[in-house]
This record gives sequence, C-alpha cells and structure tokens, in this order.
Amino acid sequence: MSNYSIHFSPTGGTKKVADILTRALGGAWQEVDLCRENEAMTLTGEDLCLVSVPSYGGRVPAVAVERLRRIRGGGAKAVLVCVYGNREWDDTLTELQDVLEELGFVCAAAVAAVAEHSMFRQYAAGRPDADDAAELTGFAGKLREKLECGVFGPIEMPGKHGDYKPFGGGAFKPEATGGCTGCGICAERCPVGAIDPEKPQTVDRDRCISCMRCIALCPANARAVDANVVAAVAQRLEPLLGGHKENHLYL
Ligand SMILES: Cc1cc2nc3c(=O)[nH]c(=O)nc-3n(C[C@H](O)[C@H](O)[C@H](O)COP(=O)(O)O)c2cc1C
Ligand code: SF4
Ligand code: SF4
Repeated sequence: MSNYSIHFSPTGGTKKVADILTRALGGAWQEVDLCRENEAMTLTGEDLCLVSVPSYGGRVPAVAVERLRRIRGGGAKAVLVCVYGNREWDDTLTELQDVLEELGFVCAAAVAAVAEHSMFRQYAAGRPDADDAAELTGFAGKLREKLECGVFGPIEMPGKHGDYKPFGGGAFKPEATGGCTGCGICAERCPVGAIDPEKPQTVDRDRCISCMRCIALCPANARAVDANVVAAVAQRLEPLLGGHKENHLYL
C-alpha cells in the first residue's frame, strides 16, 4: 500500500493544507505535483491518495483536471481537499468527486479548507494558521478512524454534480515591470508554460490561468498585475470575501 499526496498549488496555500493533513494522518507520502506535466500512473485498491486543489471561480482548475486524467484510480481511496480563499468553493468538491470517480477512485472523505487568497492577499491573510492546523489535525484523526474501518458510504457535500458553475475567475494576467532581471524563474515554474523563457517580460494571455505563481516566486518582485484594477475588484468583492470563514469536513 502506498500513500500519495497529489496537489495543484501554484502559490502554496493548497500545499500547506495538504501537508498539515498528511502529517496528521502519518506514514510516508509520495508527492505528485500537478503544477508540472505529470507521468501517467495506475493505482490499486490498496493505495490512499490525498487529492488537493484550490477553488478557482468555484471550480477545479481546468489544468488540474487535465493532469488528473492521466491517473488511473484502480479502486484507490481518495480524500478530496478543496482550498478556498475566503469566498466560497461552490462546485469545486463535487466536480473533483465526479472526476475522481470517473477515473476509478473511491471517494472516502472531503475537506474544504481556507487559505490566504492568492489574488487578493488581504483576505484570509496568514491562513491556514495555528487554529486551522489544530482543527485540520482533529479532522485527520476522525478521518484515520474512518479509513481504518474501511466502510465508505456516499459523501454528502454542497455543490452541483454536472452543470457546474461557469468558470469566470481568470481576468488578471501578470506582466514584468521595469525591475525584471530576466532570470527566467517565472518561465520555468509557470504551471502552463505561459511565459517565454527567452522573453520572460511578456505573457501569453490566452494560456495564462491567472494563478499568481509568477508574482509569488519572482525574486526581484518584478511581476505584477495592475494594482488599481485589483484594488477596485477587491473592493467590489468585499461583501463576499470579508469576515472569518470556516473549514468543513465531510466524512
Ligand atoms: C484564478 C483564481 C480564482 C479563484 N477563485 C476563488 C473562488 O472562487 N473562491 C475562493 O474562495 N477563492 C478563490 N481563489 C483563491 C484561491 O482558491 C486560494 O487563494 C487558494 O489558496 C490558492 O491556492 P494556492 O495557494 O495553492 O495557489 C481564487 C484564486 C485564483 C488565483
Ligand atoms: S522571475 Fe521576475 S525577474 Fe525573473 S524573469 Fe520572471 S519577472 Fe523577471
Ligand atoms: S503567467 Fe499566468 S499562469 Fe503563468 S505563473 Fe503567471 S499567473 Fe500563473
């Protein structure tokens, strides 16, 4: 039996949640990073997978679905993790469940957890924090008991199966500012190859999925989206993004 932590986490919030859960579940975990092109793999009913994605516009990021489709579940147990940036996750968990079941996974449990919003960083800033870690660790204890008893009924969670919310969250396309040194780190780490390594100052706007990874990784702090536009959108979304949001566990 092997444990796999399969994650798509451009700016690291989703990975933080996944790491808290794998640490609390215990044992050795092999990492499958969906921010890179992944090899095809086939699992078995003996395997356990934590599959973690951020919510993008209430959906699973399309590139993560594309890369998950290279994995054959073979009856492996999946724990679904959706990480959201203090608004809502809408159909993300149900879409992830539909994709994984189609691939032959058995969905054993699901978690929706809060992390700092990767675009509007003032929302859920610093989360997952120590309280989240304690709560997620408690979840993992109950999850371990459920995994040990080996009986997995249908998981009831909010969201639609099919006819998902149309995706509409990818309007911001970061570009380099004057301080760009041409180091190429953003091009190398962009999950979808939207930055030309020979000309990292520009971006292929059609490919870019607005994941904000290039901004988070740039060592010269030289990648940005228009701050005025981001501030205006954040202000419009304040009623949806503000306040303290909860983590949820579906067993
Ligand atoms: C393109 C995009 C769309 C997003 N859409 C949502 C959303 O619909 N609801 C929400 O609560 N957070 C949303 N977020 C915030 C992310 O879900 C959250 O910050 C998550 O932690 C990002 O994952 P990462 O840190 O692993 O990159 C969005 C972020 C991005 C970049
Ligand atoms: S990571 Fe920053 S400095 Fe390096 S090429 Fe990209 S934008 Fe330029
Ligand atoms: S160019 Fe777009 S897709 Fe690539 S890392 Fe930057 S925001 Fe993400």
